[in-house]
Amino acid sequence: MPITPETARSLRRELVRWFARARRDLPWRRTRDPYAVWISEAMLQQTRVEVVIPYYLRFLERFPDVAVLANAPEEEVLAAWSGLGYYRRAKSLQLAARAVLERHGGRFPSDRDALLALPGIGPYTAGAIASIAFDRSEPLVDGNVVRVLARLFGRDVAPDSAAGRAEFWTLARELVPGKGAGDWNQALMELGALVCTPRDPACVRCPLSDSCEAFRLGRVAELPRKKSRPAAVPVELLVLAASDGERWLLERRPPEGRMAGMWQLPTVELAASGGLLFPTRKPRSLREGDTLCTIRHTITCHRIRATVKRAVLTAAVPAPPLAWVPRAALAEMALTGMTRKCLTAILAPPGKRSPARSPAPSNRSSPSPPKRPRA
Ligand code: ADE
Repeated sequence: MPITPETARSLRRELVRWFARARRDLPWRRTRDPYAVWISEAMLQQTRVEVVIPYYLRFLERFPDVAVLANAPEEEVLAAWSGLGYYRRAKSLQLAARAVLERHGGRFPSDRDALLALPGIGPYTAGAIASIAFDRSEPLVDGNVVRVLARLFGRDVAPDSAAGRAEFWTLARELVPGKGAGDWNQALMELGALVCTPRDPACVRCPLSDSCEAFRLGRVAELPRKKSRPAAVPVELLVLAASDGERWLLERRPPEGRMAGMWQLPTVELAASGGLLFPTRKPRSLREGDTLCTIRHTITCHRIRATVKRAVLTAAVPAPPLAWVPRAALAEMALTGMTRKCLTAILAPPGKRSPARSPAPSNRSSPSPPKRPRA
């Protein structure tokens, strides 16, 4: 059933008024520069606001506009993205920046279709840029919007099904105002983030509870319908930590595939666990020592358990893809999220380490303990 114009008007009035009062002061809300809006939206997909803020500020400082991003070495873009995951997104960011330069003379298009034609920009990001930066009357749908709309209109449809996607986009399109679409879209997302949360939603504080179908029917906890997730694949890894005190031995991942070209502590997939994320043969030049710690890490649909062991390089010099990397260079490198986690755990001050064991992975030639990186 379509939404009546009066219903749409009243929902907009209540929600936008609430947003004016309750909105968080976030760095990307202080600008309407489409480039900055784009970077923030790309980072905010799948990553929490608190995590994104420092990444966003650093990224904009290092790559202040489309031209700088388009012309930067890919390695530096990946390094600035390191820790946010979904590295393909960082690569397509640079491809899109180049396309904006070539196709649009460096100025972001405001038109949804032109935005959609840029690499890595999907319907959500196109809607966000068009509405927030250009005040175009374009809707957007993300997880927060789905939750708000599913509850508000009592829609019991699987959000990840074709029918569900069509339904939520139709609702969002019917609701988006002709003017002030950016505020409306952000208000919907903000309501989903602060009030209409997945667990323990604060219906008593909700500006739309009087109109909410799920609230009326006592179905808030049931909606939106849960996704049927495939079981995560367990993956067992051995991570080899070799250091000569000043440098760490890292390994560069292959140029194609998952986390292509990024750097990691040498990693081997142990059991035939079905992950196939890493090679199964240990570099012959590495001799493993005792266990330092165990790390748990999840990427997309893989649940990883990594045993981190002290290791020693038995060759005089490492053969590619292995390389010694100075400690001071780590912060600027495109490290995988798991390697960042491993290094943080190994270098944690005694007492904060889990399990509490002496670290200091060292190479045979120089057993002095590694120092903390700046990362
Ligand atoms: N989530 C992602 N982008 C957002 C925005 N601009 N406002 C509120 N929540 C968001």
